[in-house]
Amino acid sequence: MSVSASSITVDGKNVELPVKTGTIGPSVVDIGKLYGQTGAFTFDPGFTSTASCESAITYIDGDEGVLLYRGYPIEQLAEQGDFLETAYLMLFGELPTPAQKADFDYRVTRHTMVHDQMNRFFQGFRRDAHPMAIMVACVGALSAFYHDSTDISDENQRMIASLRMIAKMPTLAAMAYKYSIGQPFVYPKNDLDYTSNFLRMCFAVPCEEFQVNPTYARALDKIFILHADHEQNASTSTVRLAGSSGANPFACIAAGIACLWGPAHGGANEAALKMLMEIGTPDNVAKYVAKAKDKNDPFRLMGFGHRVYKNYDPRARIMQKTTHEVLKELNIKDDLLEVAIQLEKIALEDEYFIEKKLYPNIDFYSGITLKALGFPTSMFTVLFALARTTGWIAQWAEMIQDPAQKIGRPRQLYVGPAQRDYVNIGQRG
Ligand code: CMC
Repeated sequence: MSVSASSITVDGKNVELPVKTGTIGPSVVDIGKLYGQTGAFTFDPGFTSTASCESAITYIDGDEGVLLYRGYPIEQLAEQGDFLETAYLMLFGELPTPAQKADFDYRVTRHTMVHDQMNRFFQGFRRDAHPMAIMVACVGALSAFYHDSTDISDENQRMIASLRMIAKMPTLAAMAYKYSIGQPFVYPKNDLDYTSNFLRMCFAVPCEEFQVNPTYARALDKIFILHADHEQNASTSTVRLAGSSGANPFACIAAGIACLWGPAHGGANEAALKMLMEIGTPDNVAKYVAKAKDKNDPFRLMGFGHRVYKNYDPRARIMQKTTHEVLKELNIKDDLLEVAIQLEKIALEDEYFIEKKLYPNIDFYSGITLKALGFPTSMFTVLFALARTTGWIAQWAEMIQDPAQKIGRPRQLYVGPAQRDYVNIGQRG
């Protein structure tokens, strides 16, 4: 890492600020000493120009549409690898050897069951509870069931907690789904691979044999790889911020799930599919594009635009191909896909979207595929959370081991009243 300097003068006080350079991507101005030497803070709501940490996990070039996990292009990982290999890469920094992969798969598989008392925990929820509400609660509750792996100063406990979460997320997600449709929980089956096991826990019933469709499993596994990490986004930053206080990893991941739920983040795939349903037919598309462009109308095209990508989201390109493959192989004719294709075409040719660099993001296509696989819209963000858990854990572990790590504590620009004296209630008004 090379270091040069930049300087800034605030209220007549000059301070030299080091400029740090990463392996690729923009340099950062280290402003850590700014307040101490000038008494001023920086102001950057939404962190649009602020790097919050050093990280060696994921790299995004939003202008070029590049996404790398530990240096490997997302396209190669999605086409050639599997999700647990990506999880290993996230956690350990390198792709596993065959022996390491077999050992990792074995260790994850042996942690897939949840404490049997979790079943009773579920009974407390209403059947119509949103599965994300259940996930926030159940993942947080893991710390009540597995307190033997909550000591964050113990490397071994950190690893066990990490494996437990990667392993148990599919089980909890499937339980949340089964509970919502009134079917019995299906226990994990350890001779199946990670994603096939998840599909079985979601769609099998105890009264008949269940064969996992390999096309479904491969498509879903790809979706998991595409969602595994995405640098310092809102939910990952939430996990890091929660973890910076020393909170246990289960609680931190629960915080990440809560943040992911929002429609501007992980909830967008659910919102995108609902929007396609609302549009209904390709001839309605122009009307909705006009609504999205109207400054007086709050409507936005869900599944379009991204804070970082000002080019085609590379994940959306892979997802678009996967969607077509799944629908073709399963011989499904989906009207929503027709609406999506038409919408993408019109929006990509429209001056408003071109000028603002608004391209389809991953959520635009993932919803259609998940629907074809048989998942209700309420489960879409849950599947995102399941996949993103690997990224959250890797980012959390990186933070814990970072010698520069401190409790996160942003400052503010105060715009409330200046100091004033309390007036007794009888003397007010
Ligand atoms: N439809 C219509 N106009 C849009 C859209 C959209 N989807 N997205 C942004 N714009 C316009 C926005 O009105 C603004 O216009 P102006 O400059 O005239 O005020 C301009 O583009 C910039 O928008 P912004 O909100 O300042 O951009 P942002 O970087 O803060 O927001 C975003 C990024 C993803 C929240 C936003 O594009 C959006 O709300 N998209 C729809 C929701 C969505 O698909 N979210 C999934 C994100 S990808 C998954 C993930 O990472 O979680």
